[in-house]
Amino acid sequence: MNNHSGSAAGQAADKGGGIPEIPNTNISETELQLKYIEACKDLIREQYPEGLRYFIQNEGCQMNNLQTETVAGMIRDMGCVSADSETDADVVIFNTCTVRENANQKIYGRLGRLKSIKRSRPDLKIVLFGCMMQEEHVVAKIRESYRFVDLVFGTHNMHKFPELFYHSLQSGGQIIDIWTDTDQIIEGLPCDRKYSFKTGVNIMFGCNNFCSYCIVPYVRGREKSRKPQAILQEIEDLASHGVTEVMLLGQNVNSYGKTLDTPVTFASLLREVEKIEGIRRIRFMTSHPKDLSDELIEVMASSSKICHHLHLPMQSGSSRILKKMNRHYDKERYLDLVSKIRTAVPDISLTTDIIVGFPGETEEDFCDTLDVVEKCGFDTAFTFIYSKRTGTPAASMEGQIPEDVVKERFGRLLDLVQKKGRERSGRFTGTVQEILVEEENREKGLLTGRTGYNLLVHFPGDPSLIGSYVKVRMDECKGFYYFGSILEENS
Ligand code: SAH
Ligand code: SF4
Ligand code: F3S
Repeated sequence: MNNHSGSAAGQAADKGGGIPEIPNTNISETELQLKYIEACKDLIREQYPEGLRYFIQNEGCQMNNLQTETVAGMIRDMGCVSADSETDADVVIFNTCTVRENANQKIYGRLGRLKSIKRSRPDLKIVLFGCMMQEEHVVAKIRESYRFVDLVFGTHNMHKFPELFYHSLQSGGQIIDIWTDTDQIIEGLPCDRKYSFKTGVNIMFGCNNFCSYCIVPYVRGREKSRKPQAILQEIEDLASHGVTEVMLLGQNVNSYGKTLDTPVTFASLLREVEKIEGIRRIRFMTSHPKDLSDELIEVMASSSKICHHLHLPMQSGSSRILKKMNRHYDKERYLDLVSKIRTAVPDISLTTDIIVGFPGETEEDFCDTLDVVEKCGFDTAFTFIYSKRTGTPAASMEGQIPEDVVKERFGRLLDLVQKKGRERSGRFTGTVQEILVEEENREKGLLTGRTGYNLLVHFPGDPSLIGSYVKVRMDECKGFYYFGSILEENS
């Protein structure tokens, strides 16, 4: 099922004419798009004799980031090179997020700036895709007030980028192609990954949970798991190309595999990933507390590769609010889960997400949130002010909280989260940790790496160590990161 809405691709293509002979029957969608990549390459050679430079940027979560890397891989394979900024680019591409209103405002702000660049350089192409584009009111606004945007597509048809870009290169008009949902998962697209030694791997798409505040299920569609064979094959390929750390990604990895023809559990997938030679670290995100199984806790406890870090978003500490949020657990259940995990994996690093100011949140509810933060010992908590999302049940709930009350609560929560986080992170002072060296920290002339617990460490060392594992003494805790010194090479 591919439900299209507002597609202008066909019309625009007619204007350009001269579409190459690309058979679209009997070949897979991936093969079709690979053919369009080749066709774009030829067009680009004609239209941009000096080469096409693109600037691509991402908003939002790590899953979105991975899709940005996929679009970057596709345009790279068209023979284009990346530019350092919007002003140096022939094509500017934004992958958008709409989880909170400020993400949307950021995009409108950028479009404002791009409008003036485009006035002086009318050939500049502007491409928008991703979650925000799945919202009807956004697309209506782009159609009316942002005519200078060249190409718009959504989350369900991002694999069509080569085809749509081909039409855009030919036509010159505004092309908008948004699908309302899809049941397909397209495998085998190119990907231009930021690091050669660590990467995210999407194991599932969409979300079925409909937490009452959240827009994700509306813009990402129903939950779909990739087949375990496809995931394992991809990770084997990555490992054979030098990747040693993978982060398995999904909106709720704990429900992975439930909708497959032959259902499998996330824990069993982890066991298989663990067997892949060359993979040294396995991470995953995000775990919904309602679906966190004993089997998963056991696998984490017995594995030598799964990092002892668990991101377990609690959202609120109040059972009353959790019910209104449609989270399917309460305060006690969350606290029980945390204590179960800590018993099985005593050194676990726990992180969470918390929303402040959900409709109807009273001072008492908020105190429950503070209480859970006191009790759980989070290493980090990402705190968000509730943002009203059009079309979600919470948007029409009574008792929207005044801004001054929310800000005051947010300040108190942040103080507590930071205090507790500093105490927790401090536990590594003086210990020796294995670090995956990620990059140079240009400002300070240091290297930056990460512990298995996901803590950043800066230390003096040679850039040739990037991508390898080294032992580092954790000398000085600076709250959420450390300064350290290297002990011995260990790659
Ligand atoms: N699937 C993940 C979360 C994805 S969104 C999970 O269920 O844990 C990342 C975070 O954004 C959420 O955990 C939540 O804390 C926050 N968030 C989502 N919708 C929000 C909203 N309307 N206002 C404020 N924060 C929100
Ligand atoms: Fe949003 Fe809830 Fe799905 Fe997470 S589980 S993406 S918070 S609806
Ligand atoms: Fe944002 Fe979409 Fe991710 S709304 S948080 S980019 S799934």
